[in-house]
Amino acid sequence: MTFAALWESLLPVGRDSGTGGYRRFSWTPADAACRAWFVEAAAVRSLRTHDDRNGNLWAWWDPAVAGAAAEPAAGEGGLAGAVVTGSHLDSVPDGGAFDGPLGVVSAFAAIDLLRERGHRPARPVAVAAFTEEEGARFGVACLGSRLLAGVTDPARARALTDRDGVTLAGAMAAAGHDPAALGPDESLLAGIAAYVELHIEQGRALADLGEAVGLAAGIWPHGRWRLTFTGRADHAGTTRLAGRRDPMLPCATAILAARLAAARHGALATVGKLTAEPGGVNAICSRVTAWLDARAPDEAGLRAVVGQVVAAGRDAATAEGVDLEARQESASPAVEFDARLRDRLARALAARDISAPVLPTGAGHDAGVLAARVPAAMLFVRNPSGVSHSPAEFAEPADCLAGVEALATVLEDLACR
Ligand code: HGY
Ligand code: MN
Ligand code: MN
Repeated sequence: MTFAALWESLLPVGRDSGTGGYRRFSWTPADAACRAWFVEAAAVRSLRTHDDRNGNLWAWWDPAVAGAAAEPAAGEGGLAGAVVTGSHLDSVPDGGAFDGPLGVVSAFAAIDLLRERGHRPARPVAVAAFTEEEGARFGVACLGSRLLAGVTDPARARALTDRDGVTLAGAMAAAGHDPAALGPDESLLAGIAAYVELHIEQGRALADLGEAVGLAAGIWPHGRWRLTFTGRADHAGTTRLAGRRDPMLPCATAILAARLAAARHGALATVGKLTAEPGGVNAICSRVTAWLDARAPDEAGLRAVVGQVVAAGRDAATAEGVDLEARQESASPAVEFDARLRDRLARALAARDISAPVLPTGAGHDAGVLAARVPAAMLFVRNPSGVSHSPAEFAEPADCLAGVEALATVLEDLACR
């Protein structure tokens, strides 16, 4: 099957007919359809599939050559164990088609290409699709890879709730997965020699450089904070201004402070999710919850931005008689991808005349989480407008094919010799 046919087969899954955006939230029917698509894509390629204890999906292209060991010793290339590629299939609310799926579809397409060219793996190759990468349902980004890598406590993960109060444990159980099994998987990790994730670029660097593909240098440190402002519900038409404890006001101050602090520190800070309770037009809210997403070139800058936002929110809350609880929901430290692996990828690409500039990014990825446990690298595919987390996200078909070619090239180098 060609890249285009595989891509088309996934496109309708979880797409909202009104906005055209994707709502592929983990452990929902749309997610189940994505999982079924993955299993089918693996089955038509005779890849062995399983889902791990954290609900991440794996499709294995095993060495079939007589005499090849399931876990070959480090050979000339210096690798022992499996070469894993992939990304995620879940989306942000009304996300684009490419963020995540491009890496999974390209992974299957790269295996097709290698097979067409007569290559066989000398070590296991796996396509992985990590669960809840966006944290769109349960709030913690890269939850599946974090649990696998042992950087998120399984008990805390089980208790995470979605906006309707459904716990991750409940959602997993309803989808037929055992939440008691959540947790690090050392034997799976120990068998991985390298993880290479292909992803659409979520900025315009490649477009500006006139290049179709790039390699990742590292990821900015980033995190999510939940700011809960608790005041007192009251009548919008009768409560005097001086008598109000309106949580919306300090929340507004914190949102504006995020913009100012980010600008001051060369960082990024965003409130993209806000809930006002109980949510009556003619009532002062009792509670407002704002989710702050903050990212900075270094940890000190990130701490400074968040500190300034919380301080501004707290001062304003105090002035309004409102309580503020600021709680970190997830933290992703700065990531510097494995330089040896990146250099090896660059050499393999250069040998095929594929130019791939090295770029930093502010976007988080499962590769960034896994980088703490296994050598990891990323390939980026040009995004002409740089728009992402939006239905407008786009990559040209020719660039997607260039990505598949680049991924096949590095998989051939890492796994087929
Ligand atoms: O939010 C992120 O950085 C990523 O797109 N998951
Ligand atoms: Mn994303
Ligand atoms: Mn992504």
